[in-house]
Amino acid sequence: MPNLDAQGLMLERLLQHFESVLSLNLPAAEEEPCGLHQAMRYSVLSGGKRIRPLLCYAAGEALGCGQQELDPLAVSLELMHAYSLIHDDLPAMDDDDLRRGRLTCHKAFNEATAILAGDAIQAKAFEILADHKLIAAERRARLIADLAKACGSMGMAGGQAIDLESIGINLDLPALQHMHQLKTGALIECAVTMPCYLSDLRDGQNGRHYLKTYGRKVGLAFQIKDDLLDIEGETVTLGKPQGSDQEAGKPTFPSCVGVDASRKLMDELLEDALAQLEQLPGNTKLLATLASFAIKRDR
Ligand code: IPE
Ligand code: IPE
Ligand code: MG
Ligand code: MG
Ligand code: MG
Repeated sequence: MPNLDAQGLMLERLLQHFESVLSLNLPAAEEEPCGLHQAMRYSVLSGGKRIRPLLCYAAGEALGCGQQELDPLAVSLELMHAYSLIHDDLPAMDDDDLRRGRLTCHKAFNEATAILAGDAIQAKAFEILADHKLIAAERRARLIADLAKACGSMGMAGGQAIDLESIGINLDLPALQHMHQLKTGALIECAVTMPCYLSDLRDGQNGRHYLKTYGRKVGLAFQIKDDLLDIEGETVTLGKPQGSDQEAGKPTFPSCVGVDASRKLMDELLEDALAQLEQLPGNTKLLATLASFAIKRDR
């Protein structure tokens, strides 16, 4: 996190807590089939920013949820994300060799293991929600359905399909926004709305509406920043190859509308996201810190 004020310290503490919960939710590396379990742990426990789980805890804080209730949600979100990164890096997709400062899963292991590790991590995410002992079965079903939608053909997988179909094509602004909304926005939106199922919607449907809009804005801004970092970042800081999108002719915000317009839109999205928080009654400071972090980060 950029500066360690009260929110920064709280996020640091949450992060430490989350790392241990995450590790406990994965099969041990010594458990058969060891190669698969090693690949799963290698890719999940590799120091990502954990923005989706942190957003989930932050939304939970605004809704007054307990940390233990939120843990399975946070883990399932990070697992879905980790699976998407393993597959995103495969030769058939972005064909990248570096992720989080080390070899991508298919390079460290092999392609078949990477595909299976992604599959198994995704399955684990749903298992963890289905086994959430602290909430009623009906709510578990809602959480599973929302996560599935966010990652399916009308969510992340759909966005990834559009991304790959659009190589070398100059998408217009609505098409770009749609692609980013699906491939990255949907899961981020899901991260902040899932906790509503834990809170009896204490704040009413309205609270959910503002959280959802906040999530949509932050999700889009997050992927625009990711696109900008491909141009302006450094491989050593990013932990993934700078210039990968440009080399592959990817449809990104800067490649389609330019760097300045991308930055301007990102700033507007941040403002809009922060405005949503004013409508929520609970403590939204963590959500505000994370929204700023989404666009001010250097990795
Ligand atoms: C990278 O996500 C891929 C996108 C969806 C933009 P993150 O930037 O959250 O990656 P990690 O988890 O911190 O490595
Ligand atoms: C990835 O987008 C989106 C998902 C994994 C769903 P990118 O391809 O831009 O992510 P990076 O830049 O490789 O992390
Ligand atoms: Mg990609
Ligand atoms: Mg990629
Ligand atoms: Mg990228």
